[in-house]
Amino acid sequence: MAPVLKLKNITRLFGKGCPSCLESTGPDADTNVCSHCGTVVACACVSLDLYHDEILGIMGESGSGKSTLLKTLHFDIAVSSGEIYFENCADINLLTMSPFEKRRIRNFEMGIVYQNPHLGLKMEVSSGGNVAEKLLMAGWKNIDKTRKRSRSLLRETEFPVGRMDEPPKNLSGGEQQRVQIARALSSNPKVLFLDEMTTGLDLSVQARILDMLRSLQKRFHVSMIVVSHDLGVIRLLAQRTAVMKYGRVVELGLTDQILEDPRHPYTQLLVNSEL
Ligand SMILES: Nc1ncnc2c1ncn2[C@@H]1O[C@H](COP(=O)(O)OP(=O)(O)OP(=O)(O)O)[C@@H](O)[C@H]1O
Ligand SMILES: [Mg+2]
Ligand SMILES: [Zn+2]
Repeated sequence: MAPVLKLKNITRLFGKGCPSCLESTGPDADTNVCSHCGTVVACACVSLDLYHDEILGIMGESGSGKSTLLKTLHFDIAVSSGEIYFENCADINLLTMSPFEKRRIRNFEMGIVYQNPHLGLKMEVSSGGNVAEKLLMAGWKNIDKTRKRSRSLLRETEFPVGRMDEPPKNLSGGEQQRVQIARALSSNPKVLFLDEMTTGLDLSVQARILDMLRSLQKRFHVSMIVVSHDLGVIRLLAQRTAVMKYGRVVELGLTDQILEDPRHPYTQLLVNSEL
């Protein structure tokens, strides 16, 4: 079966770049900063496929490029080079599309939960309004129906719906993440990007959110890319996992295999340090 999303050689540099950037960075060079020009190579040559109904995990230490990768996939930041293919747009590299087309794909086919809730939510607008906004962008016009749908999505994420008129700034971290998830799922997207959505939450809230995500994944038939440096999250959610270091994917495979029998020395280090 063809993948829902196909990434080819996604590369993102922060800096002016030079011909040596790629060869002077990466796991072997033990840095993501180019020694010649000082450019940060946040992601380099990342190629991955995401399949239907799949949850793909991405793990790696802080600064390995996980958030940058997700942001490029959601068109929040531009890539320096690379290609993205989406099954509904056969054979057209999404990155060559017009801003209008990209917005349409993002609004209708994608959802994202940001590591930093301030990026995903308007903190002063009501929580219900935050969900409704994404629906309006996806073409919903009827205010009544939009509000009903927002309420039912918030209920679905186990948000206390009695508080949907309150703004996210009043809410706990876990509640804010539920609003982000409801918003991300609202347009019934094909793919969902989740960046450290349970980091910083206490263990019981974390466990409930992860459970909720697993059941939503089945109900909505959405494919997900889940970024986490927490191996427990990866183990629970992801069927396959990519391990990133200094912007590169150093290992990709079935999560069980990666966690039980890691091949790359860096993955071995990551896994062993969690034991
Ligand atoms: N706007 C920016 N300007 C300059 N450098 C940036 C920018 N955004 C990210 N970087 C750099 O790119 C690299 C990757 O950052 P990124 O946020 O993607 O890492 P991450 O894997 O998500 O880390 P964490 O686990 O801490 O969230 C880091 O070295 C970071 O400093
Ligand atoms: Mg990050
Ligand atoms: Zn360079």
